Amino acid sequence: MKSVLDFKARKGGAPISMVSAYTHWEARFLATSPVDCVLVGDSLAVVLDGEPTTFAATPEIMARHTAAVARGLGGQKFLVADFPFLAARKGIAAAVDCAAALMRAGAHGVKIEGIDGHADVVAHLVQSGVPVMGHLGLTPQSMHATGGYKVQGRSAAAAESLLRQARAVEAAGAFGLVLECVPADLAREITAAAAIPVIGIGAGPHTDGQVLVFHDLLGLNPGFNAKFVRAFADGNKTVGNGLASFAAAVSNGSFPSKKESY
Ligand code: KIV
Repeated sequence: MKSVLDFKARKGGAPISMVSAYTHWEARFLATSPVDCVLVGDSLAVVLDGEPTTFAATPEIMARHTAAVARGLGGQKFLVADFPFLAARKGIAAAVDCAAALMRAGAHGVKIEGIDGHADVVAHLVQSGVPVMGHLGLTPQSMHATGGYKVQGRSAAAAESLLRQARAVEAAGAFGLVLECVPADLAREITAAAAIPVIGIGAGPHTDGQVLVFHDLLGLNPGFNAKFVRAFADGNKTVGNGLASFAAAVSNGSFPSKKESY
């Protein structure tokens, strides 16, 4: 999948796979993989930099990582980049600047958390030719307002509010929606009601696709074991074994060998 049109065409078709990645190194793996599309997530603040929240990501940091990922993908995948903390809340001019930085860095679209209070920003970007993806449910940039990293939409009122927000995201012109940590039945209802693809993370099996973070799905994120994550490889073990073997080979003098020397 190389464009927003490819993405939109998959509504109701084969499920879409999306991976959140941050570096040129990860992007090179993704470029030659069957994964459909890539997100430069602001989760990079947590996963790469060890911050407790995503708040440390700035437009400049997101643009730098987006450029690195775009170079690694070499145009092989549809690429979305996250609007970081509060970037959609400083008015239309600031949002346009942020979108310009991310798109100039190589993104084909941007993802913006929430909708209430900035639907005009989303609509303005869409009308300016910037494909925008929504993000509802658990929105990490609002974690202090929503009581932490918790499943959202459990009560009837919260579910109704999420349905309303999903409709508002679509009405503003978004091309897709990420739905994070909501009950599977609610995700099914929102997906059925939406004409745009809904990509789930911790939202059960009934969405139009799934997104996971590169490090989580490869078992490379020691200590992070959220219920919605499946490790499709044992990266922690592989990396740990590799490092232990290197240290042992240095300490017993077997590395470097004659063949590895000039
Ligand atoms: O920041 C991120 O990586 C994300 C995905 C987990 C959806 O927003």
